[in-house]
Amino acid sequence: MVTAYDALFAALVDDAGVDIILVGDSLGTVLQAKRNTLSVTMDQMAYHVSMVADARPKAMVVGDMPFGSYHTCHRDAIANAVTLVQHGAEVVKMEGGIHVADTVAAIVECDIPVMGHIGLTPQSYHRMGGNRIQGRSSGDTAGSKERLVRDAKSLVEAGACAIVIEGVPQQLAGEITRSVPVPTIGIGAGRDCDGQVLVLHDLLGLSPRKLTFAKQYRDLGDQARDAVREYVADVRAGTWPDDEHSFH
Ligand code: KIV
Repeated sequence: MVTAYDALFAALVDDAGVDIILVGDSLGTVLQAKRNTLSVTMDQMAYHVSMVADARPKAMVVGDMPFGSYHTCHRDAIANAVTLVQHGAEVVKMEGGIHVADTVAAIVECDIPVMGHIGLTPQSYHRMGGNRIQGRSSGDTAGSKERLVRDAKSLVEAGACAIVIEGVPQQLAGEITRSVPVPTIGIGAGRDCDGQVLVLHDLLGLSPRKLTFAKQYRDLGDQARDAVREYVADVRAGTWPDDEHSFH
């Protein structure tokens, strides 16, 4: 699974053979340069989901439910999940474990598949005190090892079809994966999950952030800067447009 936020990149990653395209609320930090994902709205998610779906990818399209869109009541959560499906999402993703399990069940009841997301859940930014690795402490408080295993199990009981595990030690991600019957998809969670997800802009070197766990496969940011620098120099020097790029 990789993220994409528009038709151009959705078509590209689909051609490259990914199984799942996640229209993540990470677009708040990646595209909008916000400090966290909390300000991303339903309207913005619906817009980006529809751009990705319009690329008609073979890959499954997952739409992220943004902060606040499933926290008020089941009725709002269902209405917002329906909106994402109407804009082209085939699955919706929600952050949280035990405390959102009822809401997951209510959405699943409406025949909308739900992907869970536990561990480092960026929408819990203020509770976590920033984006911090989870699952290092013991006990039953949010983010502890034992609690994360229970979170995963409660999501399965609620009917979640898969679970993203973000920002937890590899060993714990492996333990969670072995304790649930649905696929787990890891990010910053080691190699023992069933699948992996990366933010496309991190993978391509298009984002200024450098994350320890995110492998940068190319530096397209540098290449893009160089290309535009050459264009600016050509225009300033009067060497472009040349004859080849002019009408005669
Ligand atoms: O919003 C997102 O892109 C995500 C992934 C990082 C899993 O939730």
